[in-house]
Amino acid sequence: MIDLGVNIDHVATLRQARRTYEPDPVWAAVEAELGGADCITVHLREDRRHIVDRDVELLRQNVQVKLNLEMAATDEMVGIACRLKPEMCTLVPEGRHEVTTEGGLDVAGQEARMKNVVQRLRDAGIFVSLFIDADLQQVEASSRVGAQACEIHTGPYAHAFYAGGRDIESAAAQTELQKVGAAGSAIVELGMRFNAGHALNYSNVQPIAALPNVRELHIGHSIVSRAVFVGLREAVREMKRLIRS
Ligand code: PXP
Repeated sequence: MIDLGVNIDHVATLRQARRTYEPDPVWAAVEAELGGADCITVHLREDRRHIVDRDVELLRQNVQVKLNLEMAATDEMVGIACRLKPEMCTLVPEGRHEVTTEGGLDVAGQEARMKNVVQRLRDAGIFVSLFIDADLQQVEASSRVGAQACEIHTGPYAHAFYAGGRDIESAAAQTELQKVGAAGSAIVELGMRFNAGHALNYSNVQPIAALPNVRELHIGHSIVSRAVFVGLREAVREMKRLIRS
C-alpha cells in the first residue's frame, strides 16, 4: 500500500512572511494527520527560511504518524536529528539561492562523506532515505553508502507532463516516467525502499502512484495550495484518495 508524506514547509513560509506566529505548522500537522497523512515532512534548512528549530521540537512531541526530517548532510543537522530522533531523515542537497530543492543529491560524487552521515543517523536508530535523480549510478551509490530508501526526484517528470500539454501520453512525459520506474526497479532490486516526490500534484500524481513497488510519495506545494481553498484536511484526503485509487 502506498503512503502519503505531507510536506508542511509552506505553512511555515506563510508564517515567516510576516515573522509572526501564525499559521503554526504544528496545527498543520494535526490537520494533515486527520486528513490521512501517513507521514509529516519538514525541511529544516540551514538558513531557517521556513521551518525553525522550535517547529521540529514541537512536531517531534506531537506528530503521531511518522516524522520525516529533510535536511542537508551537515554536522549541525546530524546533531539535531540524532537528538530529536525523527523516524526518518531524508538527505537533500541545499543551495542558498534555490527557491526549493532543485536536484537530487550527488551521492556518487561524495560517497565517503555520505557513508559517514548515513551511518551516524542509522546508529541513532533513524531510517535514512536519500533524495536522488532517476539515475542508476546514484541508485547504486546510495546502496553502497547504506541508504535504506531512495526518494526519486519527480521534478523532471512533472515538468515534462506540464510542458507536454498535461498529457501523460506525450513522449517527454513517458520518457521521464520510465526513468523514474527504472530507477525504482533498481532501488528495489538493491533491497531499498522506493519513494518518490517533488512537484507532484492532483493532475500528475497517478501515473507515479501506479509504478510498481513505489512505497511513499512526498508532496507539499500542491497540497498546501489546494488547502487555501478547501482546507488542509480535505486537501490531504483528496490526494490520499487519488494515490490509493
Ligand atoms: N521531496 C523532497 C526531497 C523535497 O525537497 C520536497 C520539497 O521540499 C518535496 C518532496 C515536496 O515537493 P513539492 O513541494 O514540490 O511537492
